Amino acid sequence: MLIDTHCHVQFHSYKKDMDEVIKRTLDKGVFMITVGTQSDTSRTGLEIAEKYDGVWASIGLHSYHLHEQEFADANETIHTRTEKFDQDLFRKLAQHPKCVAIGEFGLDYFHMPPNVSREQVIHEQKETVRAQFDLATEMNLPVIIHCRDAYEDQLEMVEKYVRAGKLSKRGVVHCFVGTQEIADRFLELGFYISFTGILTFPPRKGEKGEDGLSPIQRIAKNVPLERLLVETDAPYLTPVPHRGERNEPWMVQFVAEKIAELKGIDVEEVACITTENARKLFLI
Ligand code: NI
Repeated sequence: MLIDTHCHVQFHSYKKDMDEVIKRTLDKGVFMITVGTQSDTSRTGLEIAEKYDGVWASIGLHSYHLHEQEFADANETIHTRTEKFDQDLFRKLAQHPKCVAIGEFGLDYFHMPPNVSREQVIHEQKETVRAQFDLATEMNLPVIIHCRDAYEDQLEMVEKYVRAGKLSKRGVVHCFVGTQEIADRFLELGFYISFTGILTFPPRKGEKGEDGLSPIQRIAKNVPLERLLVETDAPYLTPVPHRGERNEPWMVQFVAEKIAELKGIDVEEVACITTENARKLFLI
């Protein structure tokens, strides 16, 4: 059995067949945490989790939704709807018995909205991160961090909170794409590192090392299994051999298989340990 610790089955891509996708996934022995990115997808995630054993939800406000912007992501164009973080509303959602984490949220300097200054965007992103760190601390829940092109700043914020005795449940850095040094610093702070289908992608030109691995594959090989989580981030980042199709939570098996191959161990061991990790972190 496996737990896809990060998917978005409440997203538009599954509008027509969400229940079938969930059933197909559960039938294959895969549980899932469906992750909200703003108040409405957080609420619908909880509603879905209420309906199914083996499905839990996380609630949060993603940085994408602080400013209006449009960008292509895998198989769809995302047009973001803006929202300000409403502490009271999210506090209420966090009290739901199937809410297992606050997130996803975090610093993202890759997708920068065109009509706002960089300083302003970073300022607002940091404010929203602090608000959600505070909520996670108050609710005693772990956080699911999304971070892109901003790992240094993100680490600095996490360090400050951890040193102040906050974020006691820690959390996970989802869809990790940083360096070994960044991974080590998050591990030292007590965080889990989570990998997606990106691990299954062959190394890009010029990226392949003497070991034949991409940098991210090498990092996954090095992260201790006891601190590692697997996820799909479905509907995005579909793993090999299904690249080009819509991703579904059961495809997390391909991520687990890749980790087993990289570490030279059985996929059963990867499944067993990462499931235990997810159960420990999210108390499921
Ligand atoms: Ni996500």
